Amino acid sequence: MRKLLIKGGRLVDPDTRTDDRLDLLIVDGVVAERAPELTPDDGTRVIDADGAVVTPGLVDMHVHLREPGREDEETIESGSRAAAHGGITAMAAMPNTEPAIDTASWVTFVRNHESQITVYPIAAVTKGRAGETLTEMAELAAAGAVAFSDDGSPVANASIMRRALEYSTMVSLPVISHCEELELVGAGVMHEGLASTMAGLRPIPAAAEEIAVARDIILAKMTGASLHIAHVSTKGSVELVRRAKDDGVAVTCETCPHYFTLTDDDVRTYDTSMRVNPPLRSASDVAAIKVGLADGTIDAIASDHAPHSLEEKQVEFDAAPPGMIGLETLLPVTLTQLVQPGTVTLERAIELMSTDPASILGIPHGSLAVGAPADVTVFDPDWAWEITEDWFVSKSKNSPFTGRKVQGRVTHTVSRGEIVFEETDLDRGNARAEGERESDELPLHV
Ligand code: DOR
Repeated sequence: MRKLLIKGGRLVDPDTRTDDRLDLLIVDGVVAERAPELTPDDGTRVIDADGAVVTPGLVDMHVHLREPGREDEETIESGSRAAAHGGITAMAAMPNTEPAIDTASWVTFVRNHESQITVYPIAAVTKGRAGETLTEMAELAAAGAVAFSDDGSPVANASIMRRALEYSTMVSLPVISHCEELELVGAGVMHEGLASTMAGLRPIPAAAEEIAVARDIILAKMTGASLHIAHVSTKGSVELVRRAKDDGVAVTCETCPHYFTLTDDDVRTYDTSMRVNPPLRSASDVAAIKVGLADGTIDAIASDHAPHSLEEKQVEFDAAPPGMIGLETLLPVTLTQLVQPGTVTLERAIELMSTDPASILGIPHGSLAVGAPADVTVFDPDWAWEITEDWFVSKSKNSPFTGRKVQGRVTHTVSRGEIVFEETDLDRGNARAEGERESDELPLHV
């Protein structure tokens, strides 16, 4: 029997509504026991979680792993290591690879790939993500796809989206919509507003996202399908989802750390790591996203981890591909931006990053109930530190958060009962043991 005891931590598990000081015993990859004081047998490995928070492993429902096709930017293996480093134990990979994940054999390739953490494939809605012909959705579901999406591009044709939603109900999987009305996006590269005028960069209006959100909500209502809106970034989108939920439509949505941390003003630096789709929005959009996260309108926080090579990003802003890495910064940025200032509780933050995305995708994660698969994240909530480029283990380094001070750092990641990441920063460990804390000063933005 393989035994692991996580001892002395504050166990926060939204699934069992637990927030208590409890030891957690894992036996053969499954949560076996939770109690205030458990004594290890000989041969039990012990993680000292004194002062740390112990939660269900984080579930990132929106990542780009670039395999097949762009293994220079990321692979399933390197992305899994980055995820483990970020406290993520399960993630869903988008199909905008080269070629796209649009056949059962590609779904099987992702699903069966060896990796440190669990990787779930999201299959394309249309063949080659070209927006013209639906994929064989039943076959893709049977091969193990957990959702359908043409993410990176919208399904521009409303009739095709309607059919995709109808077929998705037969296999009981959600369709994840990348909401952009392309005619309105045009050649835009940043949010339309004062900042785009000042920067002299071509604008993308908020309406380009909101029109697509409204269309897909109407189609979800018409078909009764489960619709999930990816990377919600505007105040108007939050309001549309809020109203649709009130109306009983089966819609869920996610946002990403950059949409509640950065604004279009950050684009005025012309730093290409700030280029993303949808674009960074205004301060009032950021405020509305925070309200949506707190009141339950927004169901999940996903990273939209989008690695790009240095050569591709080291160009003028307009010429850079959109996207930023995020697997490793999901937790510290969320803790710093949302939990620290009291916008959401720690329990709600874990719900948003673990329990709820697992439930949207119907995957067995996001719980530390006895009998659950032992995916666990352990982090020090008080550890104040600065994100540096050499800290990332992702193959790509295009993070907008490099140089930022954050509070909260993953110390251990446990996937299926095995430790897949353990913090070995001994200097920091010594400093902590001596009670030396770095400055509590945090650059809270917005
Ligand atoms: O900024 C983005 N990058 N948005 C997307 O929807 C796709 C992603 C990518 O694949 O690079």
